[in-house]
Amino acid sequence: MRLFLDTASIDDVRAAARFGVISGVTTNPSLLAKEGGVSYKQRILEIAEVVDGPISAECVTRTADELVVEARELASWHRNVVVKIPIDEAGLEAIHRCSSEGIRVNVTLIFSANQALLAALAGATYVSPFVGRLDDISEEGMEVVRQCVDVMTIHGLPTQVLAASIRHPLHVTQAALAGAHVATVPPNVLPQLLKHPLTDIGIQRFLDDARKAGLVR
Ligand code: G3P
Repeated sequence: MRLFLDTASIDDVRAAARFGVISGVTTNPSLLAKEGGVSYKQRILEIAEVVDGPISAECVTRTADELVVEARELASWHRNVVVKIPIDEAGLEAIHRCSSEGIRVNVTLIFSANQALLAALAGATYVSPFVGRLDDISEEGMEVVRQCVDVMTIHGLPTQVLAASIRHPLHVTQAALAGAHVATVPPNVLPQLLKHPLTDIGIQRFLDDARKAGLVR
């Protein structure tokens, strides 16, 4: 499973990129709104200088015709841009039209396997089931990820399942075990994947013993 970073913050992208474990970035209007008025294009281009992988930029228009025009514009910003389109009737038509033109689409706001199947049949490159938002309404978000992965696998569909709305480290483990192709993680979750108290205790113990053994002062 690949890891993307779910942020529009260039500082967060730079901080995460130094570990070499992030192979893409996902953004959305809510994440951009936290960035103090920076232009979307400028931010995507800044991110593209740091991460050489898929960068999702989201459409905000509401008709199929508008979505296609907007998607073309977003895709023209950089060769790594993947256009995010929400799954509804206009979205499905736009996904089909954009995919036919060779524009890669990440279909967002997926909450069921049927939505993912439709998006895949329309030519989506990625489908993004929102795990945390399903958990928020007392449904098991990860079950939808599992179902999406099974649908793609059983039917040999090339669409990749991108687990989104990830809220904590257990979501990442579960997404990996469910066979998600990608999990997009918020910047605060990434360091949580790394930490374990026994690792910290173990490092300290080795350092103490290294001092006793005269290896370090
Ligand atoms: O990738 C989509 C993600 O940003 C949504 O997360 O926490 O707003 O449900 P959240």
